[in-house]
Amino acid sequence: MSAKKTVLISGGAGYIGSHTAVELINAGYDVIIIDNLSNSDRNAVEGVEKITGKKIPFEIVDTCDKNALRSVFEKYQFDSVIHFAAFKAVGESVEKPLMYYQNNLGSFMNILEMMKEFGRPNILFSSSATVYGEAEELPVTEKTLRKPATSPYGNTKQIAEDILHDCCYAYEGMYGIALRYFNPVGAHPSALIGELPRGVPNNLVPFVTQTAAGIRECLSVFGNDYPTPDGTCLRDYIDVVDLAKAHVAAVNRMTEDKMEEKYEIFNIGTGRPVSVLELLTTFEKVNNLKLNYRIAPRRAGDVTAVWADTSLANEKLGWKAERTLDETLESAWRWEKHLRNL
Ligand code: NAD
Ligand code: WQD
Repeated sequence: MSAKKTVLISGGAGYIGSHTAVELINAGYDVIIIDNLSNSDRNAVEGVEKITGKKIPFEIVDTCDKNALRSVFEKYQFDSVIHFAAFKAVGESVEKPLMYYQNNLGSFMNILEMMKEFGRPNILFSSSATVYGEAEELPVTEKTLRKPATSPYGNTKQIAEDILHDCCYAYEGMYGIALRYFNPVGAHPSALIGELPRGVPNNLVPFVTQTAAGIRECLSVFGNDYPTPDGTCLRDYIDVVDLAKAHVAAVNRMTEDKMEEKYEIFNIGTGRPVSVLELLTTFEKVNNLKLNYRIAPRRAGDVTAVWADTSLANEKLGWKAERTLDETLESAWRWEKHLRNL
């Protein structure tokens, strides 16, 4: 294992982390996964091993536990860290803000402290399009102003971006990239890894697949009176495999010393707005089934529309989204059927 070609992935048993592990290995990197399995299962690590044919060093570690984290930094040599470990339920964060600030910010500061202590240079952080709120301009560029966060979850992303900015400019050997993900959806085409929502899903696509599987009776379309072409909200649904490849491109940029600033931000989306109704009809069409859905009132806190200008990632990372919405929604359904033995 060369340190330059080895990546520590915190939260690597999770949805985006497991897909990123696969793509990093495909690109010739070695990975080490740490996760406390608070929102995942060790089967995901086994899924990554099956897909790649590689044995993966995996440690059950809570990134809030600084001593446990220090042991990982002592044990393994790596130049780059991708920090996925965080809680991500917007509604829950409103009910339990301290839990979110502690887990999402405490763990991130521990990671940064260890990187500084051990002289490990490169940190990639999972940020979110949520930082743009109801954006002033569409599509949003990285320069579009962030709006005050409307949830503690969103606030953890804004604060973490600021922490990362400050650390990169304060500490000589530290370089950081924040990727602002739009709406990650879909699953690996093998159906060996995918999203594992706990309880009733908040996000659209897991709710769609669970409705198709008969686990949920009816999907509510939250509002059809928005000022959009069909009245439903517009989002930028990014395939999780494409998203994973964006991480590889960002790690390449760091390890090949191509960064132009000590801290850089990239939007990671498709650049194409898709309405809720377009997503539902596409899902029905590609999977040849009928979904039970009804129009319901708007959901509090939803923005009307947000999608990415991805020019910066296209140009600087040499990355662009490739999978079509059809392929993505097929993969989402394949994963749900695999989970439910359908
Ligand atoms: P996920 O819940 O599937 O993965 C997160 C992983 O981190 C889980 O495996 C969980 O067990 C682990 N974890 C949480 N706290 C931990 C801790 N203290 N110590 C160790 N492990 C811990 O979520 P995901 O969708 O893969 O999201 C990954 C990252 O991307 C998160 O930071 C999330 O906020 C961010 N993000 C997600 C989305 C999305 O819609 N999925 C959008 C934008 C940003
Ligand atoms: C998408 C669209 C809903 C469910 C959230 C977080 C954001 C980021 C990604 C982490 C909206 C509509 C949904 C349903 C529906 N996560 N919808 N019926 O809200 O864009 O973003 O996940 O960083 O921070 O806020 O994603 O999938 O919940 O909703 O009509 O049952 O689907 O109104 O228009 P959202 P989502």
